[in-house]
Amino acid sequence: MKSVLFVCLGNICRSPLAEGIARHLERGVVFDSAGLSGYHRGEKPCKGTQEIAQKHHISLEGITSRPIAYPKDDSFDLIVCMDSQNYEDLLERGFSKEKIKKLGDFGFGGEDVPDPYYYVGLEGFERVYVMISEGVKNLLESIKEGK
Ligand code: 4NP
Repeated sequence: MKSVLFVCLGNICRSPLAEGIARHLERGVVFDSAGLSGYHRGEKPCKGTQEIAQKHHISLEGITSRPIAYPKDDSFDLIVCMDSQNYEDLLERGFSKEKIKKLGDFGFGGEDVPDPYYYVGLEGFERVYVMISEGVKNLLESIKEGK
């Protein structure tokens, strides 16, 4: 079975949402998420991510923050990160360049998914939700097409 690891900085806002949306849409692929930092290790997704997920009927059950580990996590078929800084950090840690993609590579013109950690209210999370769900849908299409 194919496997995809979603990566952001804290693994509490963007990548858990990507994991939840992907699980909701596709059962034939293994999904996980991790953070480049370990600051939030063991924590559940942030409040905004929980609220926006609930609003869109996306379950985040069982998802808690964990720091990414090299080389163990290089065994995923695909490592999909949220922004250019994540991408540089993954390369620096030694992850295989051919496995690393930015979610924006699958939609919204390659833009970075902004870090919503300091957003107040749900508006910013709504924008992030729209970007992530579009990117994840296109990613799943490209996996199905075997690209
Ligand atoms: P995430 O957001 O990378 O989407 O999970 C962040 C969460 C926490 C921090 C940074 C980004 N932080 O610096 O604590």
